[in-house]
Parts: sequence; C-alpha cells; structure tokens
Amino acid sequence: MPGTPARALATLLLATAVGATVAAAPARAAAPETPLQHIVPAPVSVTPRPGTTYHLTPDTHIHTHPGSAAAKQVGEFLAGVLRPSTGYRLPVVPGASGKGISLLLTGADPRVGDEGYQLDVTRRGVVVRAKTAAGLFAGVQTFRQLLPAKVEARSRQHGPWTAPGGSVLDHPRYAHRGAMLDVARHFFSVDEVKRYIDQIALYKVNKLHLHLADDQGWRLEIKSWPRLATYGGSTEVGGGPGGYYTQEQYKDLVAYAAARHIEVIPEIDMPGHTNAALASYAELNCDGVAPPLYTGIDVGFSSLCIDKDITYKFVDDVLREVAALTPGKYLHIGGDEAHATTDPDFIAFMNKVLPLVAKHGKHPVGWHEFVKATPPATAVPQFWGTKTVAADMVEAAKRGNKIILSPATKAYLDMKYDEHTPLGLNWAGYTDVEDAYDWNPGAFLENLPAEAVKGVEAPLWTETVTKSADIEYMAFPRLPAIAELGWSPWSTHNWDNFKVRLAAQADRWHTLGINYYPSPQVPWKK
Ligand code: ACM
Repeated sequence: MPGTPARALATLLLATAVGATVAAAPARAAAPETPLQHIVPAPVSVTPRPGTTYHLTPDTHIHTHPGSAAAKQVGEFLAGVLRPSTGYRLPVVPGASGKGISLLLTGADPRVGDEGYQLDVTRRGVVVRAKTAAGLFAGVQTFRQLLPAKVEARSRQHGPWTAPGGSVLDHPRYAHRGAMLDVARHFFSVDEVKRYIDQIALYKVNKLHLHLADDQGWRLEIKSWPRLATYGGSTEVGGGPGGYYTQEQYKDLVAYAAARHIEVIPEIDMPGHTNAALASYAELNCDGVAPPLYTGIDVGFSSLCIDKDITYKFVDDVLREVAALTPGKYLHIGGDEAHATTDPDFIAFMNKVLPLVAKHGKHPVGWHEFVKATPPATAVPQFWGTKTVAADMVEAAKRGNKIILSPATKAYLDMKYDEHTPLGLNWAGYTDVEDAYDWNPGAFLENLPAEAVKGVEAPLWTETVTKSADIEYMAFPRLPAIAELGWSPWSTHNWDNFKVRLAAQADRWHTLGINYYPSPQVPWKK
C-alpha cells in the first residue's frame, strides 16, 4: 500500500529541494537521487523502497488483465516502447504473475478513481493496478520515467534496464487535461500530429483539441461540401500548399489518439474565422460573392451570413459529418474574435447552432465569447483571456457551465519565451516556463469557484509554426508545466522542485529527438 499521499510526497519534495541546493557541495552531502523523485507530472504520493531495484530481463513477460482487450492494448503499447531499445521479446500474455510486469484491473486503491493508478515496483516485479485501461496507461507512462532515458531510443541500447523500488499512488486533479494544435494556420501531416500525440501522452494529457478550420484553411474532408477541403484547404499562412485530412486519415488520427487514451475534440470555428469556407462556397456569403483565399495572419474579418438559411444547412451538414467521425463527447464550435459579426447576430447564430451540436449527440465547447449566447449547462466555455477578472465566466459557472482554462498569458504555447524567441507571437506577453507553471487553475479567475474548473488546456496556434521541430520548441518545456497543473494536486506545486524534475526530463527529450527550448530558468544537466 502506498504511504500517506500528501505527506509522503512533501517529504520527497523536501528531499529533492535539499538535494538541488547541495548539488554544488561536496558529493558526500548530496541526497541520493532516484527517478521516483523526478516524475512529471508530480504524483499524488510516492513511497521509495530504498535498496530495492527491479531489473527488466530478456525473459520478462508483460501480463495483462485476463479477458481485457483494453488492458492488452496498454500492454502492447508498453512493449512497443520497450522492445526497440532493450531488444527483448517482452511477450504480452493474459494473466497475473508476481514476476515481470503486470497490468491489472483489480485491487487498486479506491482513491485511484477513473484515471488513476497504483504502481508497485519490487525486486520481483512491477504491478500497475487501476480501475480502467486509462489508469493502466497513466501508470505505464510513470513506469517509463523510472527506467533509464535511453529506453526511449528506437534502436538497440545497452542495459541494465533498472527501475527503483517503490510505490506510487496517483490520480488526476482535473478531468480535462488538454493540448490544442492549430492545423489551420499551417497544415500538419498525419505523422506530424501523431508525433505530437505521442509527446503529450508522456505527460498524461488526455484531450487533443484540433483546430480544424480557420480563415487560412479548412483541414477536414466534408463529403457534403467537398470544396471546403479541396479548395479551402489548398493553402496556409504564407501561401504554402496547405492540405487536409481525408475522413479516413482523420479516423486514423482519432484511433491513434484513443490508443493513447486521448480524446480528440475537433473544432470548427464559427461564425468568424471562416474565410476558407466563405472562399469555397459563394452562396455562404451575404453578397453571394466568394472572397479570395487568405494567407495572412489578421483575425476578425470574416463571418458566416447570419440571416441566410443555407448557413444553417451548411453548419448542420458539417457538424453531422464531424460528429459521426468523432467518438468523443465534444464538438468545439469556436466563437472567438467574431469582430465582423454584431452581438445580436452572434447570439442569433449560436442559438441556432448550439441545438445542432446536441442534435448530433455531442456537447458544445466554445471559446469564452460564446457565453454571450448563454449556452446550456452541458456547454464548456474555454477561457483564453489575459485578465484574471472575468465576470462572464463567473456568471456562466453560476448557470452550471464547467470551464476550461487556457489563459493566454500562461497556457498559450505560441507566446514567445522572451524577446529573442525566433518563433511565436507576443500579444499576451512573454511566457517563460516559470510563468507557464506558476498559477493555480483552481484560484486563477477571481470569484470563480474551484469546482467550476473542468481543467486546463495548452493551445498552440501556428501562425509562425510550420514543422514538428517548431511545435516541439514551443511546447517543450511549457507543455509539461501545463500538464502538471492539470494532473497534480496543488499540494505538490513548487517551482523549485518542478524545475529540477523538468531538467531530469531532458535526457528523454534528447533520446526522443524532441527539439526543446533550453530555458535559462531550468537547471539542465550539462
Ligand atoms: C483565440 O486565441 N482567438 C481563441
């Protein structure tokens, strides 16, 4: 049984903080370091078993809960991570065993809830217990971090493959731990998006919000309105070739994310941010004239035609197709920066569109402006403001809406770290890692009750971001910071401790080829 949650971790936090302070002192003074002290996001409770080490061997089997295909899938995922570097066979077999690695859906501490896990590492074996496959998957992500960083290599490495003995009891603070990728400003291929999915999964992110349509591009095939993709998707910021996902490719992405226990939340932004759609179909414009495609980075100039019936036929068709392709609960309908739509028109539009989301069996998510239309309690506003006073969010919470926090000053991964950052924008200011980390989602917006917060999300807008190396440079190391705010209990929050744990992740990023920003705020190892 793991030790006292908050207290056990507090002891570890202290040990790590002290260890960090004395790192420059004579070696005999340094506290022993264990990867158990370096887990990101910080677990609820960690209890080391000093002197105990587990060794992965050529004979290790991965035992998964008998009869559970979902547990077997988690086992295969773990084997897929471990096989290339270890060169071991690591067969995934049903059953329970005191030896090897076991992934079991019974016997977990009830506190693990729906997404948490219990991890026990002894000399004999590694046991992850959870109530769900999502919990097993989270436990597997923690176990990866206990093994040497070179285990992440895709080619054969020398062992030994050891994990320190100990126990972890862990569960998330928030149900929504999101990352958003804007594939509209610049298009990213299926493989590039999969690469990002693998990276966010490392940090127990469980939602991938895909911003699929904007002024510069429409990125998903819609069979009832085919020119959206073939014409509206034919360019991007700067005039490059753009691109779009066929429905088969989108389904493949959704399945890839689901195998990593990540739910895709597709966004079709409207009524503004719609130039790509308006350019594709003249009849969607109030004057019946299609504007040209747009490859700049201005916002707020486009609007669907609020008074035309065809607008709602269009929205209904699109939402129907997107809903049918998306097993998750949510459709994001944008609603931000509708500067070319009057408030009464915006409200009239949302009053027609919100019921369409429900008709297609989904709950609406929208950028925070959509609370102007007083959406139902099932709707989820996503706050992206730059202030900590937001009376409209407080009012929405009183009506029962649960809110996702993506404050642009903290969670926007496209903000520059400082004035020298070659990529990104700075309209919300500069955001180095400590800024991204040092806020409490439960107490961020004045007078918003902690219970009204559904979670946090880190959006990455891509006006200046064109390839995976760019995504990574902006997301690392800030994405792990936001992920920790979403997962870890506030009692673990400590910048001096976090920055040491973050520094310890860098070996893994090197091995995985992740192009991170080496912020001077973090004590990276040389
Ligand atoms: C946004 O940044 N316009 C949501």
